[in-house]
Amino acid sequence: MTTQSNTGITTKNVQFYYSKHHALHDVSLDFPSNKVTALIGPSGCGKSTFLRCLNRMNDLIPGTRVEGSILLDGQDIYASSLDVVELRRRVGMVFQRPNPFPKTIFENVAYGLRVNGLANQTEIGDRVEAALKRAAIWQEVKDRLDASALGLSGGQQQRLCIARALAVEPEVLLMDEPASALDPIATQKIEESIHELKSHLTIIIVTHNMQQAARVSDYTAFFYMGTLVEHGETDTLFTRPAKKQTEDYITGRFG
Ligand SMILES: Nc1ncnc2c1ncn2[C@@H]1O[C@H](COP(=O)(O)OP(=O)(O)OP(=O)(O)O)[C@@H](O)[C@H]1O
Ligand SMILES: [Mg+2]
Repeated sequence: MTTQSNTGITTKNVQFYYSKHHALHDVSLDFPSNKVTALIGPSGCGKSTFLRCLNRMNDLIPGTRVEGSILLDGQDIYASSLDVVELRRRVGMVFQRPNPFPKTIFENVAYGLRVNGLANQTEIGDRVEAALKRAAIWQEVKDRLDASALGLSGGQQQRLCIARALAVEPEVLLMDEPASALDPIATQKIEESIHELKSHLTIIIVTHNMQQAARVSDYTAFFYMGTLVEHGETDTLFTRPAKKQTEDYITGRFG
């Protein structure tokens, strides 16, 4: 059903301000389509801020300002003509803490489809099932679709949130430490689903876990104090970092 997205993101000279606080300095970074890029760096270096620039989630925080350009498949996402709701459909997001709605499992995933105007029950049902399968949680929930999502375990809730994000068929998926609240088995399931998903999607994942970055990503970008220090193929960045700061961070000397 779903085809490859082939949608990448290009950022150029991105500056970001929380009022007077200059949180991102001149970040230029490309996210190639159908690849996983990991964003790593010490707490407070700007990873979440940068991620939220990519689907304009920072717009919701008063007093913020972004400069530079961010292109989604060549299109400026900060252009005045751009429909932000449609942008967020194309660039979905999964947060650190699972945040299912207090609704049934089915309705959590169907929600975005209904918001996007889909009314055909059969089609909604098919798409909910497909999204749950792609998020590797279908087997665990298929007999309890009408039960509350709040009754699921943390790891199941997070995969449900991934299914909810996938249901509207985004081209890019942003994940901000999606496994940090989960146990190792739940984490492994999320990582497996990331691996499956990248054949359809461009994925950008923030993680504090170096092993996780090394396992799931094709490219890694290392941030420090609001600047992009180094970016490259994950294997190279972890085995032969070009910068001393990167080496210090990945070997655990700081952060
Ligand atoms: N809503 C906000 N208002 C003001 N400053 C903020 C806000 N959110 C983040 N900041 C500041 O911007 C900087 C970058 O924060 P950000 O949350 O992007 O870091 P991070 O790399 O995601 O950190 P962590 O790994 O702890 O999640 C920090 O100095 C932070 O205090
Ligand atoms: Mg963060």
